[in-house]
Amino acid sequence: MNNWNFFREALKNFRSTGAIARASPALIKHLIGSIPSDRPLTVVELGPGEGCVTRALLDILHPGSTLTAFEINHTFVQRLHIIQDPRLRVIASGADRLTEHFAPASVDYVVSSLPLSMIDQSVKQRIIRQSQDVLTPAGAFLQYQYALQDYGLLKDSFSNVSVRFTLANLPPAFVYSCSLGML
Ligand SMILES: C[S@@+](CC[C@H](N)C(=O)[O-])C[C@H]1O[C@@H](n2cnc3c(N)ncnc32)[C@H](O)[C@@H]1O
Repeated sequence: MNNWNFFREALKNFRSTGAIARASPALIKHLIGSIPSDRPLTVVELGPGEGCVTRALLDILHPGSTLTAFEINHTFVQRLHIIQDPRLRVIASGADRLTEHFAPASVDYVVSSLPLSMIDQSVKQRIIRQSQDVLTPAGAFLQYQYALQDYGLLKDSFSNVSVRFTLANLPPAFVYSCSLGML
């Protein structure tokens, strides 16, 4: 799916997509650059869209890793099924079903491109709470956002939250790296 097709799909479902263009390679690098490649990891992706972050993750993840992607848009789910990689599992349901699929403290990274600012407060809180539940003590929740609307929510939910900014995206974006700080 090229950027034009993503744009058309985004216009059809603007509230759930929350973007007009896919994340740029520079933004993706900021988002996932801290994930190590030298050991098997359990990684969850929330809101993969047509898979630009998914593919970048599969490029860097250790061969023994798993990547589970939660996506609610059926057009995007079909695109994700085209990716042939035994490490990838696509789940066509909302990110607030995370704990139905993962035990507590079993996930190393949750990588999210969810349009947090467009998601109902109660659903958003459920997603964040479930992410906390499934993350290992050393795990991290990684998220980008076009403005800092949810910085407060993330600060309240995680012990450590760092924010970086990149101009190299349309629009420019903030990248949060959040950890439970239990180690
Ligand atoms: C901004 S797009 C991100 C697409 C791609 N990952 C990127 O970074 O360019 C947000 C994606 O989140 C998906 N989404 C929105 N709400 C969701 C939810 N509750 N659970 C799972 N996916 C959701 C949308 O369908 C859309 O594909």
